[in-house]
Amino acid sequence: MSGTFGNKLKISIFGESHGAAIGLLADGFPAGEKIDLEELSRFLSRRSAVGKSYATGRKEADTPRFLSGFLNGRILSSPLCVMIENTAQHSSDYDVLRDIPRPGHADYAAYCRHGQNVDLRGGGHYSGRLTAPLCVAGGIAIQILHRRGIEVFAHIYNLHDIADLPFDPVAVGACEQDRLAQSPFPVLDTQAGDAMLEAIFEAKSHLDSIGGVIECAVTGLAPGSCGEHMFDGLDGHIAQALFAVPAVKGVEFGAGFACTQLYGSENNDPFTINQDGKITCTRNNHGGILGGMASGMPVIVRAAVKPTPSIYKLQPSVSIRENRDVPLEIQGRHDPCIVPRAVPCIESAVALAVLDALLDSQKSF
Ligand SMILES: Cc1cc2nc3c(=O)[nH]c(=O)nc-3n(C[C@H](O)[C@H](O)[C@H](O)COP(=O)(O)O)c2cc1C
Repeated sequence: MSGTFGNKLKISIFGESHGAAIGLLADGFPAGEKIDLEELSRFLSRRSAVGKSYATGRKEADTPRFLSGFLNGRILSSPLCVMIENTAQHSSDYDVLRDIPRPGHADYAAYCRHGQNVDLRGGGHYSGRLTAPLCVAGGIAIQILHRRGIEVFAHIYNLHDIADLPFDPVAVGACEQDRLAQSPFPVLDTQAGDAMLEAIFEAKSHLDSIGGVIECAVTGLAPGSCGEHMFDGLDGHIAQALFAVPAVKGVEFGAGFACTQLYGSENNDPFTINQDGKITCTRNNHGGILGGMASGMPVIVRAAVKPTPSIYKLQPSVSIRENRDVPLEIQGRHDPCIVPRAVPCIESAVALAVLDALLDSQKSF
């Protein structure tokens, strides 16, 4: 089946935004692992639009229903199937998009690729809504990793032109994770967070949208614990999962593109023996991955999220039927900025990639 991610842990996401339901099929989560459903529900609420003044008017309960592979609070050895019902569709808002595609969205490419065999209502299978089941899988992966001392957490690194405090790439840990867990808006600097919210409302008032960068850390990964060579490097695996999150347009690790402006002597991260007698690095420009393998330093990865393509401003488009230029004024319910709600999606993609890499590389997990 296409659209499946993972080597040992195989994840497929199914459904369309305005179909009966969306969901996930997962094979390979370690059997016997507990799923804390309350914790999972808290995690999913971070992605949900419910209770967020800056988010879409489409308020879905997003309650996961476990159809198989889960009994008495534990994962079974058989495939896990989870369904989330769609309950708040307004399909007529999208009729026009079959003829007049939204600039920046998947409508036109999907129409050319699949013709009549694609459901584009609400973005169909290309909708950001499909990140709800991704977050179910990711939320489970985060719980499994947490039990092994591996933590995955993210914040808004910058939103449009407003920056949060960056993670310390050498020492990021429980302190930042706790602060983010307690914050309703995922930033370390609350003043920056307030300015970001203002920028979102400002963009909204101009019928426009804005994007940003999400920075994610993975701590507790032992050196050499995962990552295979060439095509199965940990960085490549994480990047593949991240690009599955709709609207992600760039991924960088550690110093990322900025390393090109450094000398080797500045970019290389010197090794040293720390107070506990363990080998560590004094810097982390490499972002916790060397040669595709975990180096033992925190994994630091950033994902660029573009401005929401569906904007209420009049935009140039075309009528496919009439083969002429026409302006497009969209209907429907869209976030002026998807970055805050994408934070748990990024955590999910990273957690799934890391868990799969560990299952692949470790004889026993
Ligand atoms: C959590 C989340 C919510 C999203 N909500 C919307 C939305 O309301 N309107 C929209 O046009 N795009 C939304 N998107 C982005 C589109 O789904 C995405 O840009 C589109 O599928 C095209 O894919 P691409 O940007 O990866 O090329 C959302 C993305 C995420 C991660």
